[in-house]
Amino acid sequence: MSPIVAQVAKQVEAHLKHEGTGHDWEHIRRVWQNALKLAETEKANIQTLSLAALLHDVDDAKVTKDVTSEEKLPKAREFMANAKVSSDEIETVCTMIKSMGYRKVLGGIRPTLIEAQILSDADFLEAIGSIGIARVFTYSGHMDRQVFLPDWLPGASISQEEYLHGKSHAVNHFFDKLLKLRELMFTKAGKAEAEIRHQRLITYLENLFEETNAPAEWSKLLKSYRS
Ligand code: ADP
Ligand code: NI
Repeated sequence: MSPIVAQVAKQVEAHLKHEGTGHDWEHIRRVWQNALKLAETEKANIQTLSLAALLHDVDDAKVTKDVTSEEKLPKAREFMANAKVSSDEIETVCTMIKSMGYRKVLGGIRPTLIEAQILSDADFLEAIGSIGIARVFTYSGHMDRQVFLPDWLPGASISQEEYLHGKSHAVNHFFDKLLKLRELMFTKAGKAEAEIRHQRLITYLENLFEETNAPAEWSKLLKSYRS
């Protein structure tokens, strides 16, 4: 690992160690690890990818409670300046971070740099599978959202505004976002891993609907995501 990456990692670890919305240091570490693994079969600048992975959530509005931070990325810029990252690389990393996330997808924005596409895949993998299930309920608890309200079915589509401020229950989030991520992967390795994790979501929801005696509409809704 380059000394620059190590220095940024140290700052991010200290900053996010006690974060409680699901964007803690362990999430960052896993995304970084996922990204490096996916990069093994792609041509990518590993330092730029690592910096963006480490810094992708430090200015997220869920973490900072300030909507303007996502545009300006003050913490990411501060940590990179402390580690003497070149100004060109700082701008590249900021461009990458601003092109990521499901809310951006809803707004029609998708990453174009290969490093940003790898990172997007790595971050989306964290939202699905076993770890993704854990993170939905962590975040829902943090937002005082219920686990499952069987009478409240998901809408066909969701706006950026609803995604951010809607008061829906945790199971709807699977339909609003998680079950759609498989189709949004860029890399071959990311697609393969997303397929495995997607099936884990399906199994989990099937079991949940059975245990809770949920109305048949729920299993019907799940059908379109099965294959
Ligand atoms: P990430 O850090 O993976 O980019 P987000 O910042 O969008 O993801 O959200 C962090 C975690 O919280 C994710 O696992 C996501 O699925 C979950 N989450 C986001 N929005 C909601 C919501 N409205 N209800 C429940 N869980 C949510
Ligand atoms: Ni993230």
